[in-house]
Amino acid sequence: MPDGDLTAAVRAIATGDLRPEVGLILGSGLGDLAERIETPRRTSFGAVPGMPATTVVGHAGEFVIGHFGGRVVAAMRGRLHLYEGHSAATVTRPVRLLHALGCRTLIVSNAAGGINPAFGVGDLMAIEDHIALPGLIGHHPLVGRSEDRFVDMVGAYDRDLIERASRAASAVGIRLHRGVYAMVVGPSFETPAELRLLRTVGADAVGMSTALEVIVARQVGMRVLGISCITNQADPGGGAPVDHLDVLAVGRSVGARFGELVTRVIGTLPT
Ligand code: HPA
Repeated sequence: MPDGDLTAAVRAIATGDLRPEVGLILGSGLGDLAERIETPRRTSFGAVPGMPATTVVGHAGEFVIGHFGGRVVAAMRGRLHLYEGHSAATVTRPVRLLHALGCRTLIVSNAAGGINPAFGVGDLMAIEDHIALPGLIGHHPLVGRSEDRFVDMVGAYDRDLIERASRAASAVGIRLHRGVYAMVVGPSFETPAELRLLRTVGADAVGMSTALEVIVARQVGMRVLGISCITNQADPGGGAPVDHLDVLAVGRSVGARFGELVTRVIGTLPT
């Protein structure tokens, strides 16, 4: 979907008379939040020109537009990943789409392995920064673009939104860590040696998504809040094996808390 085709994709998404302000990307196991969107208008990925269907168990693959937390949101239930064989440009097209629909704030979530030993399974982490060097993951969504490619990534994860999330979390007794998210391509989980490397360079959590989407969100000028759900320990000492179905199950069990946090954050966003 070259940028010019965004118009066709935008037209294919059912919005009714709603103009979404906040984009939500719901990661593995976190899609249930979309059930709580009121007056939902649903469009499956497959119905949107240029959007491949998702191939991942636990990712439904639909846009849901409606009211949530007192605002109009456009949620993506499921996302595209590099490990499905998509290019970095394809993986990040939905972000361009959310922006074209009118969203100026993006709340992006994911399931992640907790590298920081202080993190427990089921905890949430506000992403303060990420590591996604093309040298490590081999992909970048802006390679080959001729304009707007030198995007500043200092402060990509909006300080004010992190503060709002922290206040919202305290208000409802949710523990919200802060930390650095390292993106890997996957789809295999990391070896202990890889986790030691990531820990050494300052990563607190590791996952297979998000960072490329955030680069494009910053390119188009969206404010970003990133939330990781720690679904497993990513133990540099070589702990318990990781299983995708466990990742989904933990995501679902944390879903209610995640939804509560997101509702409250959205409720405090300036109009
Ligand atoms: N590693 C990479 N991605 C993940 C993990 C992990 O341990 N858990 C959930 N997504």
